[in-house]
Amino acid sequence: MDLIIKNGIIVTATERFRADLGITNGKIAAIADSLDEAGAAVLDAAGKPVLPGAIDAHTHLAMPFGGTVSSDDYYTGTRAAACGGTTTVLDFALQDFGETMMEAVRRRDALCRGNAVVDYAFHVAIKDVSGGLLDSMEEAVKNGVPSFKVFMVYDFGVTDGVFYRVLKKAGECGALISVHAENNEMIKLFTEQFLKEGKTDARHHYLSRPEFVEAEADKRAIEWAKSLGTPLYIVHLANREGVRAVTEARDAGYSIYAETCPHYLEFTSEVYSRPDGRNFVCSPPIKGEESRQALWEAIRRGDIPTIATDHCPFRSDEKDWGREDFTKIPNGCSGIEVMYPYMLSAANTGKIPYEKAVELCASNPAKLFGLTDKGSIVVGKDADLVIYDPALPFTITNDKMHSDCDHTIWEGITLQGYPETVLSRGRIVYDKGRFLGEKGAGRFVRRVLS
Ligand code: URP
Ligand code: ZN
Ligand code: ZN
Repeated sequence: MDLIIKNGIIVTATERFRADLGITNGKIAAIADSLDEAGAAVLDAAGKPVLPGAIDAHTHLAMPFGGTVSSDDYYTGTRAAACGGTTTVLDFALQDFGETMMEAVRRRDALCRGNAVVDYAFHVAIKDVSGGLLDSMEEAVKNGVPSFKVFMVYDFGVTDGVFYRVLKKAGECGALISVHAENNEMIKLFTEQFLKEGKTDARHHYLSRPEFVEAEADKRAIEWAKSLGTPLYIVHLANREGVRAVTEARDAGYSIYAETCPHYLEFTSEVYSRPDGRNFVCSPPIKGEESRQALWEAIRRGDIPTIATDHCPFRSDEKDWGREDFTKIPNGCSGIEVMYPYMLSAANTGKIPYEKAVELCASNPAKLFGLTDKGSIVVGKDADLVIYDPALPFTITNDKMHSDCDHTIWEGITLQGYPETVLSRGRIVYDKGRFLGEKGAGRFVRRVLS
């Protein structure tokens, strides 16, 4: 055995128990009451929880967007992930017009390979299905990229017809489609009206996308998936009506999945009235308290099976472009380093069980997105692990974060407990506040949906 983690409380999505954990060649090799230490390095977990590393299934690293590029590249973004206990990221390869799905993946992978600190994979965000490009989804599935995304908004959003064709194709080739669901026409209408009236502050970003704008799109997307009998994954669900629609579809037996993000669980739309409100501008915007509560309830019921971050940070000077006009604020916020600590703090303070945090952040994203070697503490799986210190209070400040951004929307939020040590395939990448990972050690993960 290369490494033994002694005296930990192993936490899985279904149970917790005291055991030693042995690692060989980056894999979990043994789990037992007591393991022989001969020849192995030893880490003493001293009764602390030992959890699977988290999987962030929704990041935008080095993403060209909003007139700039998101500030974390594949090195700094995955460094921040590692330091927050996230040991796999699923980023987006945004297809260019005329490109096959695999060409988009290879183009992005060329940026990521040699830079990522932890393992990674891509969803393809589809723009163009003309000619044979729709069929090129099949090639991607065969090459271990079985998930795609469509946007119903932004200048690269797809029409309803394209979305429907993508869903149908996914049903035929066994892929999973994610959707950013908001009604683009309604947003345009409200935005034009506000700008005409001189209502240009950050709060009007939120008001131009009222709750029903997201809910209506959620419902439409769900109806199409239902009509085709294909699974659908709604990213960054933020509104109460949408939660209701997802719950109803799931109760009726449809494979409708939804993810939400920590910022929708922590903040409400009141943030848009703060002096730094523009830093919270993201789409869909953060909604009211009823929606925040509805998201937590859906998590507890199991109707929201995953948490991801939508990590897409922009520097303050870029956010400032929208001081006089909210439409000029690049949309997106940071979260990659905060997700797992935030959800584990929720477990530590009794809001959800630890097992639930593992299910939401590790085992469910692994299952849904076909990461067969990730997301659980089982012999044979990758030794992506977090030793968590529940007694360590941690107040988030940007200087303690490992992102390449000059601010975080999480500034000043105190968490109860924090990851102490993080391992990626058996290598320590973070220990007690220090990043110890290696640029380029992260590998592309081929995926197969079950
Ligand atoms: O505001 C956001 N969410 N920015 C990133 C792109 C997206 O919509 O996911
Ligand atoms: Zn989105
Ligand atoms: Zn996103």
